[in-house]
Amino acid sequence: MTDRSESDTVAFEVRNGIAWVKFNRPEKRNSMSPKLNRRMMEVLDALEYRDDVGVLVLTGEGTSWTAGMDLKEYFRETEAQGLGGTRKAQRESYGWWRRLRWYQKPTIAMVNGWCFGGGYGPLFGCDLAFAADEATFGLSEINWGILPGGGASKVATELMPFRKAMYHALMGENIDGRTAAEWGLVNESHPAAALEARVTEVATILLAKNPIALKATKDAIRRVREMTYDNAEDYLIRAQEAANSFDNEGRKEGIRQFIDDKSYKPGLGAYDRSKQTV
Ligand code: ACO
Repeated sequence: MTDRSESDTVAFEVRNGIAWVKFNRPEKRNSMSPKLNRRMMEVLDALEYRDDVGVLVLTGEGTSWTAGMDLKEYFRETEAQGLGGTRKAQRESYGWWRRLRWYQKPTIAMVNGWCFGGGYGPLFGCDLAFAADEATFGLSEINWGILPGGGASKVATELMPFRKAMYHALMGENIDGRTAAEWGLVNESHPAAALEARVTEVATILLAKNPIALKATKDAIRRVREMTYDNAEDYLIRAQEAANSFDNEGRKEGIRQFIDDKSYKPGLGAYDRSKQTV
């Protein structure tokens, strides 16, 4: 086919509160070109504060989630433009992965197929990750002569135990979805045919929860990893107080339904947000 237009490198639709965003270069195994990186940032921008979007799912068209960076368009062609070209391409890719890490809405990676190298950036950017048993994960950088850059080494050590991360990075051997779940790269692995149903189930549970609390919680879990206990304790007090100023009534309603109405138990599920009057 002729070269895909920039706007066509990412596909998305919103259904029942869930934004389904797809890497959409199946003919190039959804490898991340500068065009795709620019388009993904635009799509994330467009969806982030929409009232009809409560959860974002990132998946891939065809047999791939993403085959990592586009070795031709991201590496070879930008290097040919000199250091400025390389830095620009890095800003464009790292930029949308960072945007994902701190996205306003909860995000879920639904890894349907190949996931290599640079793909670990958006994988870590998503708050939760679910893979097909048949998916394939690999830090293939060593196989073509570079180190796992663009955050991939960091992602490996953030998500996997040290020995697993080192083996994974040095050996260039792939693992399937089940092993990725055992090693901590994803939350769960399911047969491909059951993957979307499980992701929809998880997203639907998230949609029922207080959105201010979800954003405060996802940020807290990422931030406290790098803090001492005392710093974390202090940060969490400030974060809750800041969340209260956005949403004074939600948590009061949550307490009310439990203590006064006895209509639910927080230990067993979320309060009914439709009964909140303000
Ligand atoms: N960069 C550029 N082009 C790619 C990439 C990539 N990362 N991955 C696939 N393609 C292209 C192929 O060149 C091919 O293009 P063509 O049809 O114009 O020849 C097309 O996508 C289809 O690829 P095939 O290799 O034919 O697909 P297949 O299904 O047999 O294999 C696989 C899939 C295993 C993913 C293979 O394409 C592959 O090894 N890709 C590279 C994976 C990789 O190492 N990525 C880089 C990680 S390191 C980093 O991101 C920093």
